[in-house]
Amino acid sequence: MDLTPTPLTTLQVMQAAPVIPVIVLHELRHAVPLAQALVAGGIRMLEITLRTPQALDCMRAIAAEVPEAVVGAGTLRSSADVDAALHAGARFGVSPGLTPALARSCRELGLPLLPGVATASDIMAAQEQGLQALKFFPAMQAGGPALLKAWHGPFPEVMFCPTGGVHAGNAGELLALPNVACVGGSWLVPGQALEQGDWPGITALARQATALRPAVP
Ligand code: 3PG
Repeated sequence: MDLTPTPLTTLQVMQAAPVIPVIVLHELRHAVPLAQALVAGGIRMLEITLRTPQALDCMRAIAAEVPEAVVGAGTLRSSADVDAALHAGARFGVSPGLTPALARSCRELGLPLLPGVATASDIMAAQEQGLQALKFFPAMQAGGPALLKAWHGPFPEVMFCPTGGVHAGNAGELLALPNVACVGGSWLVPGQALEQGDWPGITALARQATALRPAVP
């Protein structure tokens, strides 16, 4: 039996839930219970940032032990990152920006990429690489909802995942925009909750996030 997971599109990753949690893990022992807690709250697409030495091991553990979760790799910056992420079980990638080399690696290796953009020129460069589903980063610092509204004129076909400075209090306004498919943020996984193993608390945050908007069927 072929157990290879069905490939996802970036838009499918964005439409699975209103929020993609941005996760920074310093301890391997947190990975599996955290993923289980988020899945219990309705959040399956998990962005594990490649910012800690434990990140790849955490991704491997979640991919192996939490089949309901879909592991993504965040903070992709190079072709080597893409290769490492794929070998650790990543099924999608997120990057703070975009280079032609990063786009090529993801395309060649079959990793759906949600690349960061912050300007109209960034969007046009992403479109040159065939990418129309983009992370807006750092969203609230760079212009927030007003900039997304301005981009909807020249780029009506582009869907965004605003990330950076997004939280439960401003996510609803962003999600109401026609060019926002989901938002990203670290607020679902507070460092203190991780340290204390407050998995029910994280599930509660995930449930609140899931309720921000029903998933697209
Ligand atoms: C990050 O860079 O860590 C992400 O964009 C998340 O930002 P946030 O902590 O403001 O949600």
